[in-house]
Amino acid sequence: PMCDTISVCNRNYPTDSWTNITPNILSYQGRNIYMKKNHPLSILRQQIVNYFYKTFVNPKGNAIFSVFDNLAPVVTPEQNFDQLLIPKDHPSRSKSDCYYVNEKHLLRAHTTAHQVDLLKSGLDNYLIVGDVYRRDEINATHFPVFHQIDAVRTLHRDKLFKNNPELEIFETNFKTSPTSFLPIKSSLKCIDQTKQPCHTMEAVKLMEHELKTVLVRLAQTLFGKDIEYRWVDSYFPFTQPSWELEVYWKGEWLELLGSGIMRNEILEAAGIGNTIGWAFGVGLERLAMVLFEIPDIRLFWSNDSGFLNQFKEEDFGKHMKYKPISIYPQCANDLSFWLPDNMGVDDFVGNDFNDVVRDVAGDIVEQVSLIDKFKHPKTGKSSLCFRIVYRHMEKTLTQNEVNEIHSKITTTVEKRFNVKIR
Ligand code: PHE
Repeated sequence: PMCDTISVCNRNYPTDSWTNITPNILSYQGRNIYMKKNHPLSILRQQIVNYFYKTFVNPKGNAIFSVFDNLAPVVTPEQNFDQLLIPKDHPSRSKSDCYYVNEKHLLRAHTTAHQVDLLKSGLDNYLIVGDVYRRDEINATHFPVFHQIDAVRTLHRDKLFKNNPELEIFETNFKTSPTSFLPIKSSLKCIDQTKQPCHTMEAVKLMEHELKTVLVRLAQTLFGKDIEYRWVDSYFPFTQPSWELEVYWKGEWLELLGSGIMRNEILEAAGIGNTIGWAFGVGLERLAMVLFEIPDIRLFWSNDSGFLNQFKEEDFGKHMKYKPISIYPQCANDLSFWLPDNMGVDDFVGNDFNDVVRDVAGDIVEQVSLIDKFKHPKTGKSSLCFRIVYRHMEKTLTQNEVNEIHSKITTTVEKRFNVKIR
């Protein structure tokens, strides 16, 4: 039974038909592992923050980037989507992709959600670090809570062109472009990857150069001077043009971060339409897994000292690689069921199933995969089969323990989705 209020970050919110945060998800909120001394995520956070402190200083030698690392993760759909020009019908807004507190609030799906607020408060150079929440598959590289750093830098004409005071940021005809707030969907397919119409080529090229130089040096700081990299054109509703930086690591091109020139509509909405800015966002888990050779994303949440003691802030850049303490066996159990009469195999929301599994079993679940879909030729009934792989991070699970949890999941699934176990 659903309660009529839910408490998130010490505040009560009324629930409604949008509410889909689970107790399991709430249990990760507030743990702040990215701030814990010597935690691998914290080590990376510090490396990135220090890089920005060192790289951008004013004439007095003081760092000009402000860092925000404790903004509460509850935001509005306006902050997470609308203010960033994400179209009303974009699939990333859906209940099956985000954790909604209710119709008016959700757990941020990216740290970019705070962009307009921070700009409005007058900031011109900032980093934001925080936990972000997305409903997704369950496997070794996906976890519903992970961490991102976003950075923004905006410049006025006199700073950008201090060596060429005759140049302009804006084309005269587009000076104050009162563009319709949300782009039309069809217009998204043909994006000009050179620049926004309002900007001059000189301004964009200068910004692009600074952005790319700064980010390549960041990659070199993290991966070493000899790292191979490439820029790939990309698309985000809130930047244009947009690029992803990829690095070549152990035989594979790895997507490191997303970046671009900020859309002028956003700066205008923040009251600084006369500036130009660049922005980027980077996920910390992905980086840490690669750099420290951490094989499973759940390890970041471990309290096991055997894991935590392997990492030391001051050893960054030396050979700091994860060594498995020991390998505990996996244990796979299948769960098959008939859907209610009126439901087809594609009507079932996999992420709803994943959240029930997490809620009942916690993070001893390593993977959930849909291994079979079947429609009975005579009865027309549809059936699904999920394989759940259990593995404890710190001990061997006995078959009995697994069976007990598996049958708890089974009864919960039966009730929750009104299905019949096969
Ligand atoms: N918010 C984007 C993401 O989560 C990353 C990004 C941030 C891209 C800022 C461009 C600019 O993927």
